[in-house]
Amino acid sequence: MLWCFMASARDFIDGDTYSSQDFAPVERELDHPELELLEGELPPGLQGVFARNSSNPRFVAPEPYHWFDGDGMVHAVSFADGRASYRNRWVRTAGLAEDEAAGRATWTGLLSRPDFTRAGGPYKNTANTDLLYWNGRLLALWWMGGGLPHALTVPELETEGPWPDAGTMTAHAKVDPRSGDLVFLDYAPTPPFATHGTLTTDGQLTRTPIELPGPRPQHDLALTERYTILLDVSMFADPEALTRGKVHMRFFPDRPTRVGLFDRKAHRLVRWFEVPACYVYHFANAWEQGREVIVTVCRMRDPLMYQPQPGRTDRVVPRISHLRLEPELVRWTLDLDTGLAREELIDSALAEFPRIDDRRLGSPTDAAFLGTFAEQEAFRFDGVRRVELGSGAAIERKYPAGWYGGEVSVAPLGPDPDDAVLVTFVSELGSGRSELWLLSARELDLVAKLAIPSRVPAGFHTRFIPGEACRSTRARPSSPLI
Ligand SMILES: [Fe+2]
Repeated sequence: MLWCFMASARDFIDGDTYSSQDFAPVERELDHPELELLEGELPPGLQGVFARNSSNPRFVAPEPYHWFDGDGMVHAVSFADGRASYRNRWVRTAGLAEDEAAGRATWTGLLSRPDFTRAGGPYKNTANTDLLYWNGRLLALWWMGGGLPHALTVPELETEGPWPDAGTMTAHAKVDPRSGDLVFLDYAPTPPFATHGTLTTDGQLTRTPIELPGPRPQHDLALTERYTILLDVSMFADPEALTRGKVHMRFFPDRPTRVGLFDRKAHRLVRWFEVPACYVYHFANAWEQGREVIVTVCRMRDPLMYQPQPGRTDRVVPRISHLRLEPELVRWTLDLDTGLAREELIDSALAEFPRIDDRRLGSPTDAAFLGTFAEQEAFRFDGVRRVELGSGAAIERKYPAGWYGGEVSVAPLGPDPDDAVLVTFVSELGSGRSELWLLSARELDLVAKLAIPSRVPAGFHTRFIPGEACRSTRARPSSPLI
């Protein structure tokens, strides 16, 4: 049985799209010690490192290529004393080392038949998906369950190696800003199909199996003060096909998605709530409000290209292989007294990769910041959208025609959540010119624009690492910085 949920090569947008133009990998690791300011000014209080992970194949990937196959590469801009510098480095995984020793790509891609005989396989842990800063460590995480994070130094971006302290996990682990605990999930093709984990800053590790009816591809989690929000999604490998040894992803519209509350004090899953069938990649945030739990998510109701759901719109929406991305930002209100969940639409704009100020994780949040999808089949953001999570009121800032940006991170400048800038890489499709943009969190006004002298390809998730971490983490602090 596979634990990959990308195993069907049917009906996918071909690998050329995700290996050319702005998705093409860069071939070199570079350092640009001082970036030119093109517009605006760097905020005086801005100190820290903005980093973004990405898929950047070291060698020409075997066909068929999937965007998620590439080796992890981190691009980062460090801000210190009113100046900014850039560097990019591969995450030096064991799989990448094996490829380098062979002088070619040797691993099975997601759209090929997996090689179960391969040590450490069948898929390469590329560490290409997400970045998390915890307890003095920058961790590069992989979207697929069953992989160890990789630790990197900041700001050097040198890979220290796989980081075993918490065990395997998926991308989108979180840091609880109250306790400093690392909170994570892992999933697997065999029981336990999911595992919840916490690691305290003094090294106490707790891993708890979660009872699920079968393997579930769970991409993200959310935190409240007391709970971790987990999902039992409605898109998963067809159980009947699995009995014949085949993985065929299906959406089950008659099977509600279940939202689980995992009590982190009691270390157990205490309750499931049902919401309409959907798939979810990313949460915006969650929090407790009296006897209710509020969860905000980018929800997909029609997530597979080859299995159209009733009323499929004719909007042009991004697709990655057979995955169809038509998100809506919704609010789930989980009533702890009745056990019922209510779903409400917050915003129907085509937008994903929601981010907030990391210090507000698990607390009531006014606004989330999302990338707005360009109307095309490739995954490209043509702007940034600020959405009020209460009223749904939204403002947007679009990039110039032909320019596309990545996920934003929120870089705080003071205690007020609006006293912050959003940071993201932005690149021009034809020329490959790349810039770093800073926008005000309140109005999305341009605060500063910096030239990156080399191309920064499209990528995945970002993290802003505040202030003190600009010092080398080769000598590690003993307490969490965020
Ligand atoms: Fe993600």
